Amino acid sequence: MSDSTRRDFLKRSAAATVLASGAMTAAASAMRQAGQSATKPADKQEAKPATPAKIDVERRPFGKTDMKVAILGFGSAEIGYERTEQGVVDKILNAALDQGLNVVDTAECYVDAEEQIGRAIAGRRKEFFLFSKCGHTKKEGGRGDAWDKDSLMHSIELSLKRCKTDVLDLIQLHSCSLETLQKGECIEALETARKQGKVRYIGYSGDSRAARYAVECGRFDSLQTSVNIADQECIELTLPLAKEKGMGVIAKRPIANAAWRYDTQPENGYHVEYWKRLQKLAYAFATGDKRNDNGPDGAAGTALRFTAFQPGVCVCIVGTSKPERWRQNAELLKAGALSEESVKSIRARWKEIASAEWIGQI
Ligand SMILES: NC(=O)c1ccc[n+]([C@@H]2O[C@H](COP(=O)([O-])OP(=O)(O)OC[C@H]3O[C@@H](n4cnc5c(N)ncnc54)[C@H](OP(=O)(O)O)[C@@H]3O)[C@@H](O)[C@H]2O)c1
Repeated sequence: MSDSTRRDFLKRSAAATVLASGAMTAAASAMRQAGQSATKPADKQEAKPATPAKIDVERRPFGKTDMKVAILGFGSAEIGYERTEQGVVDKILNAALDQGLNVVDTAECYVDAEEQIGRAIAGRRKEFFLFSKCGHTKKEGGRGDAWDKDSLMHSIELSLKRCKTDVLDLIQLHSCSLETLQKGECIEALETARKQGKVRYIGYSGDSRAARYAVECGRFDSLQTSVNIADQECIELTLPLAKEKGMGVIAKRPIANAAWRYDTQPENGYHVEYWKRLQKLAYAFATGDKRNDNGPDGAAGTALRFTAFQPGVCVCIVGTSKPERWRQNAELLKAGALSEESVKSIRARWKEIASAEWIGQI
């Protein structure tokens, strides 16, 4: 599913929520501007809890770059599209940084996620690597595919301002087509930004044949691609070569959108494809009671461990709008890799069931 389709689905589901919750949502939105909780007046908010202990999350070299990344990062599409209140974003990001997070991934088109990140943690900029994406903001203004050099340079400038930083650690082309990549102008734009010192490294974020080209062409430092229990095309198509070439690999949608949690087809259209795939894959760990097992061998634990320990993967950028989630997922990863037997059975099931159309989902 393309990002714009995702946006449409999410907008529709957000609109439904607005209709259903009516005046309450309007109040919540007004309070969000002030960075307050929608449920409690500011003077009744609890005192700030003591900082939870740091978690010993594994750190890995990010390809040939100078970065060493904690294997659990943070993906900000969810906070942007779900319009998470600023106060909640502050809590999510500050708590995760306190506990060991050091990669924050965003994009200029995730609604106002870049601004939210800037407001929440620009003051702690030295504690994390900041990755963003470009390709959907036109120089003359307006949204839509914008892969020409001027638009991309303009978009990078906007990202710097919104994130309140002088330099991005990584800028990624946000899922342009194979044909656009082959033209080369978009790659030149990123190379220019790197030369000018606006970004330190450059990458491609996307899937399937375009991702393969991005790896083969040798011009990118990193690849961000979908890898999870319901999306395994990259495991043979791109990950081994990316690893061989020393690229940093970011696993997007790493927990398969937790699509097993829905009893019936989800209303959030962005989660539908994985939900349908999981219905057919019918993994024992992601059906029945196991879906609610919060331990490392339950659905979330198995899914996340499957992704995080795929050869080549450096960091999993799980999306969340919950302050406690980063810690929960970091605890799950402490169990380490799944047994060889479990990985084999997940791979075998995929090979048995996946159809040719089950390509990497953008
Ligand atoms: N083309 C692209 O470049 C592209 C496309 C897609 C995604 N991305 C990047 O990848 C990031 C992650 O992707 P994503 O957010 O779409 O997918 P994801 O990380 O696989 O799934 C996020 C969903 O899983 C839920 N979740 C997380 N941990 C859970 C747990 N332990 N148990 C149950 N549910 C859990 C979250 O809900 P809660 O809110 O309840 O935690 C959230 O709804 C994005 O934020 C974005 O940065 C990039």
